[in-house]
Amino acid sequence: MDALKLKIAAAAEALTYVRDGMRLGIGSGSTAEEFVRLLADKVANGLNIIGVATSERTARLCRELGVPLTTLDEVPELDLAIDGTDEVDGALSLIKGGGGALLREKIVAAAAEKMIVIADATKVVETLGQFALPIEVNPFGLGATKVAIARAAADLGLAGPVALRLKEDGKPFITDGGHYILDASFGRIPDTRALSNALHAIPGVVEHGLFLGLASAAIIAGAGGIRTMTN
Ligand code: A5P
Repeated sequence: MDALKLKIAAAAEALTYVRDGMRLGIGSGSTAEEFVRLLADKVANGLNIIGVATSERTARLCRELGVPLTTLDEVPELDLAIDGTDEVDGALSLIKGGGGALLREKIVAAAAEKMIVIADATKVVETLGQFALPIEVNPFGLGATKVAIARAAADLGLAGPVALRLKEDGKPFITDGGHYILDASFGRIPDTRALSNALHAIPGVVEHGLFLGLASAAIIAGAGGIRTMTN
């Protein structure tokens, strides 16, 4: 099966968890967008849900396809968030933010009673960190923040390039929140909680892409079919 079919298969399985009347967090990225398309078909056929989008891009797609949206100001608690991931391990810890939406994704996941991750089997890893960890930072003090991140990582025995994410035109990528993204290539991260805490202690760090204790299930589509990881 090609990658798109696997994404659609995972998204379709996630849709079976959606019930009438639910308040849904709606993720970002190519897999989450397949979920939006399937959800939109259900909405067109009478499913009653309200969604909170995790990015401006997802919000645009929802509007185009007629998926009703609200905000966390109007609806501060959600029943279920469904989102893609860049990596997932056996404990359902994630690295997210490849698309740069990690801050809103984490706010939405934390506001939801449950988070279900949808992904193809290539995203499942033994230890997180092969995918560079996205770290959302305030543009002010970027140099100092980079140094602080490298020091915090070194204290945990981690090292590697911390690169400012750029767009194709060579200018910095700007998140929906107006921040920069640093992609930290530390390699395998044995103690994700320690790194999470250390990054949160740096003032210029707005948020990072380690999602720990947020996902309650991961729907993984592979050549052999669908499997659902839970913990
Ligand atoms: C967006 O910021 C990310 O967290 C995405 O959820 C993640 O990159 C997965 O995207 P794909 O489904 O496109 O792989």
